Amino acid sequence: MDFVVEPSGGLNGEIILPGDKSISHRAIMCASLASGTSKIKGFLESEDCLATMRSFQELGVDITKEGNYLKIEGKGLYGLSKPKGILDVGNSGTSMRIATGILAGQKFDSIITGDESLLKRPMSRITEPLKEMGFSVIAQKGGTPPLKISKVNQVYPINYELPIASAQVKSCLMFAALYASETSVIKESKVTRDHTERMFKKFGIPIEIKKSNFNKTISVSPPTEIRPTNLEICSDFSSAAFFILAAIITPNSHLLIKKVGVNKTRIGFLTALKEMGGYVIIKNLSEGYEPTADIEVKSSKLNGITLDPKLVPNINDEMPALFIAAALAEGTTQIRGVQELRVKESDRLEVMSKSLGLFGVPYIISEDGIDITGLNQSLPDSNTKEPFNEAEIDSFGDHRIAMASAIGALRSRGQCRIKNCENVTTSFPTFLEVADELGLNITTD
Ligand code: S3P
Repeated sequence: MDFVVEPSGGLNGEIILPGDKSISHRAIMCASLASGTSKIKGFLESEDCLATMRSFQELGVDITKEGNYLKIEGKGLYGLSKPKGILDVGNSGTSMRIATGILAGQKFDSIITGDESLLKRPMSRITEPLKEMGFSVIAQKGGTPPLKISKVNQVYPINYELPIASAQVKSCLMFAALYASETSVIKESKVTRDHTERMFKKFGIPIEIKKSNFNKTISVSPPTEIRPTNLEICSDFSSAAFFILAAIITPNSHLLIKKVGVNKTRIGFLTALKEMGGYVIIKNLSEGYEPTADIEVKSSKLNGITLDPKLVPNINDEMPALFIAAALAEGTTQIRGVQELRVKESDRLEVMSKSLGLFGVPYIISEDGIDITGLNQSLPDSNTKEPFNEAEIDSFGDHRIAMASAIGALRSRGQCRIKNCENVTTSFPTFLEVADELGLNITTD
């Protein structure tokens, strides 16, 4: 399925977006392991989160939709049952990496697999530390899925410093630590999204967090039982990012995105945009187990920046959107330390730089970064023609490349085609509806 995008004027009004993908995965997992019934409001019904939901249903958890919430009858830490077949989590790296931490601790064997893209993604980042804990999780040659998980009798606690900034690896080990004989300690020197830490606290799981200037230490103690909980999931900042970008780069825009998750470990994109000169205001902040707020955005003149490397783990999924902002800014934006982009749903550094090239934006790419020379057209005057070429761009089945490129196409001189966009449903199934609500002309072909 392709997107066909016509250039567009400003975005105005207020929108509310669907639930957070990362939090939805974790809510299903914690509620499934709790001893009793949890009710989850605002669950994201995207393909990735539904893959997690279906997997836990296959593991014997009763999950039903009642009105606007999911009712999850948790089975307890050791109450899951052996699935009938192979668990297939489709495109979802988060489902595979985190659920493996849970499957490894069960008293049955299982196999977990995924789609063509997931079968290429690195899993030794979880299988190696899990092996240190005494678990048996075997990947294919080259460290890729499917993963074959066998039951073990003895699980040891781990004391582990994350070699790469990855919330999925951290979370896999935090769930695995629930099955260890004693307290495990996980350290990160680059602070990644902390949704698992917050969710563990919400479900009453014993966890202690210490922060210093150099790192963060998380201690997880195996509980005897997990307390069921009712919770509400906020809107996904990563989905909001595409419309924040759209409002910033299209003239005459003024947009309010209501009740979005603004967890500090997620909103590096806003920090970068503000540094570039973007008009972005966080309003009506409300502190719950996850902070939420309204985000106000206006069309802005942007300047190139040298991105602070500390922001990289907190921009993560918003990098494709940041590339588009940089492409319209005045001057060069220098981005380094983003080698992890190469092992996402596609090689995002390579694929996104190709999109920029097709739009006519000069760039220099390296192993771990990119310099993007902006076209100085974030706020054109009425006499200048639109900055981007009419382009036909392949998203290579990567949902975030598809959405970032579609938003970039709003500033093209003519119609653009973005190819292979079907996977937008993995994270943001209502992307086109929201675009339509805002008057954008993005259709499918
Ligand atoms: C996620 C962590 C990130 C992110 C992904 C969701 C999570 O992946 O890219 O979309 O929910 O933990 P990494 O851990 O590979 O950085």
